Amino acid sequence: MFSKSKVGAIRELPLEETFHIHNFDRLDSTNTTLWQLIENGALSGTVVTAKEQTAGKGRRGRQWQSPSGGLYLSVFLAPNCASTDLGQLTLCSAWGIASALRDRGIPVGIKWPNDLVLRERKLGGILIETRGQKEIVDRAVIGIGINWRNPTPEVGINLEELTNAIATLEDLRSTVLHGLKTGCDRWQQDGIDPIVRDCDTLLVNRGQTVIVDGCGGVIVGVDKRGHLRVQFPDLQPPQPEIALPPGAIRLGYWV
Ligand code: BTN
Repeated sequence: MFSKSKVGAIRELPLEETFHIHNFDRLDSTNTTLWQLIENGALSGTVVTAKEQTAGKGRRGRQWQSPSGGLYLSVFLAPNCASTDLGQLTLCSAWGIASALRDRGIPVGIKWPNDLVLRERKLGGILIETRGQKEIVDRAVIGIGINWRNPTPEVGINLEELTNAIATLEDLRSTVLHGLKTGCDRWQQDGIDPIVRDCDTLLVNRGQTVIVDGCGGVIVGVDKRGHLRVQFPDLQPPQPEIALPPGAIRLGYWV
């Protein structure tokens, strides 16, 4: 996935040989710049970072406020997966990054579909953009924003508010890239099932009640497409579980 051939060939390589990092002071959006580099022949494993973004992109067409002090980076991967499996890339990215931060003693959870949360507040987000043929995703840009020392909106939190476990932006960047690589390698080696199970344990929405078509349901986890699994324990006759794709329902923050 990180090379033109197969990820297995570079699995043991250190981070700096896996990723080719281009650092910028200020960009519109690291995702946009990375797409331009890809058009000009950049290979998978290319990374773009910026100290600040003037037009950072969030999910669902929202803006991602990107003042200096935050981590803003985009990674080019060539997953060559079916477009129906794209949700798996989301799961392995979110799981890998959350796990890497947890290994540093920061108790990060996952809020569906791909927010990173700390103390019920938004620590970061992931925006995956793809291009390619209709059925196969051969180019994906994984855009990652994480609040380190930057001011955040009310629902947000930055790492500095909670911990000094990560002292520099470079350290945070390496941790995140390491996590992303671990998540993708695990997906390649073991398939998606163990990642789905581990995402479920990190999912902060588990047990949360949601209203779907007027009925109260309980979130029980995610499935291997990254859809949200909801059960309806009180319905008579019993209803089968349903799975909601990203965008079908919006789960808010608690503050
Ligand atoms: C979200 O809405 O939760 C996803 C936010 C993703 C933001 C990151 S910051 C780096 C990369 N470049 C962008 O323009 N967006 C992503």
